[in-house]
Amino acid sequence: MIGPRTFLEYRNYRYLKIALGLLGLSLIAFFFSDEPGGRSGSTWVGYGLGAISAGIIYWLMWLGIRKRDYASTGAPLRGWVSAHVYLGSTLLLLVPLHSAFEFGWNIHSLAYWMMCLVVFSGMLGVGLYALVPTSMTRNRNNITLDAMLERIAEIDMECQLAAGGLPDYYALAVVTSIEETHIGGTLRDQLSGWDDACGTSRALKKLRTSDIELTGDAKTQERKLVELIARKELLLKQIRRDVRSKGMLDLWLIVHVPAAFATCAGVGIHVFVVFWYH
Ligand code: HEM
Ligand code: HEM
Repeated sequence: MIGPRTFLEYRNYRYLKIALGLLGLSLIAFFFSDEPGGRSGSTWVGYGLGAISAGIIYWLMWLGIRKRDYASTGAPLRGWVSAHVYLGSTLLLLVPLHSAFEFGWNIHSLAYWMMCLVVFSGMLGVGLYALVPTSMTRNRNNITLDAMLERIAEIDMECQLAAGGLPDYYALAVVTSIEETHIGGTLRDQLSGWDDACGTSRALKKLRTSDIELTGDAKTQERKLVELIARKELLLKQIRRDVRSKGMLDLWLIVHVPAAFATCAGVGIHVFVVFWYH
């Protein structure tokens, strides 16, 4: 992903301008329309605004596909997200203009309430992207996470080598660090950002409080081992922080995406019902 500034300011706010232009034109159409029967979803202006809103909604759904299409050569993804965010927000006003601010407890309005949930969760998502460090949001493909995990595997091997000529006490600490270190887990674990019972932290503590007297080469090996495990602990902290940030991003998408699908279904039903009964 990309930092929010890169998509909010994309091409000098191009999509903000387009969105404001669209809202301006819709307001003019709404206030200058004087069809018999007053303003409502079933006037020509109403149909027009409804069709535009529905068009925007279905187009916004396309982002989910576009996002995963790494081979695509179209507009850069930040352009898509920029358009998504601004055009998506216009719906908050476009749809009320379409229905002439008429809402009720019916299937038509249900589509609107669902849509509001999508829009507000989207805004929350943009806010979260702003909070999440860009160093990790840049890596949508887990590139750095993979690199860090690889580094940990290397450290584990170096630890095993370093513990080779040392007393069992050290080998046991290395085993604890390798076998009892967990990353990820449930969403709740991920969001907590750390692990109280982390095997690596326990191993480091054990090594630092060791009262075995070593000399010569063994002493050097011990120092190397402590250094390696300390480096691993640092890497783990960073990974858990990244996993936590990713978890936070997942959290709002859990609302955004299903509500988006529900909105599409709601709009489909609304249009069907409207034409069926007219
Ligand atoms: C092709 C697209 C659309 C068409 C043809 C359409 C058509 C209509 C029509 C004819 C009405 C008037 C119904 C009546 O007076 O009984 C209406 C009302 C309404 N429409 Fe749409 N619409 C479209 C898209 C949308 C979208 C995308 C939404 C929101 C997500 C939406 C939400 C509403 C609401 C909330 C009302 C008012 C319901 C009420 O009176 O309680 N419409 N629409
Ligand atoms: C009815 C309106 C909307 C619909 C139907 C919609 C739909 C979607 C869909 C399908 C995705 C793809 C999610 C995925 O596959 O991971 C998405 C992502 C996203 N949406 Fe929306 N959205 C809407 C409005 C908004 C609004 C108003 C905002 C912000 C103000 C917003 C912000 C975002 C962001 C930031 C992403 C993530 C982009 C990324 O991960 O690269 N959305 N939306």
